[in-house]
Amino acid sequence: MSVDKLKKDLDKVLDEALKLITNVNNHTDLENFRVQFLGKKSILNGLMKSLSDLAPEDKAKAGKDLNLVKKKINDFINDKKISLDVTTDDNLDAFDSSMPGKLSSLGSLHPITKIMNEAIDIFQSLKFEYVDGPEVEDEFHNFTALNIPESHPARAMHDTFYLENKNLLLRTHTSSVQIRTMSKKRPPLRIIAPGKVYRKDSDITHTPMFHQIEGLYIDENVSFANLKSTINIFLKSFFEKDDLKIRFRPSYFPFTEPSAEVDIEYFDNKGNKKWLEILGCGMVHPNVLTMANIDCEKYSGYAFGLGVERLAMLKLGITDLRLFYENDLRFLKQFQRV
Ligand code: DAH
Repeated sequence: MSVDKLKKDLDKVLDEALKLITNVNNHTDLENFRVQFLGKKSILNGLMKSLSDLAPEDKAKAGKDLNLVKKKINDFINDKKISLDVTTDDNLDAFDSSMPGKLSSLGSLHPITKIMNEAIDIFQSLKFEYVDGPEVEDEFHNFTALNIPESHPARAMHDTFYLENKNLLLRTHTSSVQIRTMSKKRPPLRIIAPGKVYRKDSDITHTPMFHQIEGLYIDENVSFANLKSTINIFLKSFFEKDDLKIRFRPSYFPFTEPSAEVDIEYFDNKGNKKWLEILGCGMVHPNVLTMANIDCEKYSGYAFGLGVERLAMLKLGITDLRLFYENDLRFLKQFQRV
């Protein structure tokens, strides 16, 4: 064996390897290729053994050439392996381009938000302006300016969430926004104030946080008949039912006189006729107008406070209000398209 002969043999091996590697297109063929060129019985291994026949001065150079070829063939194998891992026949077979893609799940609005938006739309079509107020209130706006006496039970510690600063609390109703609006705007005014309210209450028809929509209309010559007609129009439109049974029941609120509560007739899941209270309302008390510097001889007004969860229970047929806030997706998903 001479150095020249070895060089020629190595070139031949490399040429052949280059030719064959292009035809390899699965992992089995690649393994056969490896055995053929780098295995124990491979030509390269044979050539390696014949190095010992060379003259000592040629050995180092020939060994280098041989290792270079070995390295190139190894590179062929590694490159091929990478490309097979990506596009191997097995993977191509498993990929079915006619299968639908995986849809990522889209969120949707909470049912209470949807119900609230529907109610807001109706009031806006009746020309009520949307206003906002803070959820952390002071006693003046939540109680005092609404003619709620110091001794009223709603002010008690066990009914209201007070903050450490004793004068601040989480508003117990949206009626506080009536006061904030009257301090900024002069009549005529016609507003709704939707939002969250908080009370220390929890059972199947009460949660510590719930939603109300406050309404306030102040102008000259506003009467209880106007109030009744607005409530009737709203409820019939919201429930999409012209013959909806609505009941105005005399009631008491410190900030209205006269006052009423409004109930809606519904049928429970056993088919029994029932009434559910959904709002409080009345003619704005002259004391409230006077405290807001509005001339109660010239102006009158009505106000109402609607329970959004109650509307939702009736419209969606839910009997336990707490379900809305357990955030169980199996429950919430049912209303994705409501
Ligand atoms: N704020 C009352 C409540 O939370 C509801 C209410 C009653 C609001 C009469 C009003 C009203 O505006 O006039 O129970």
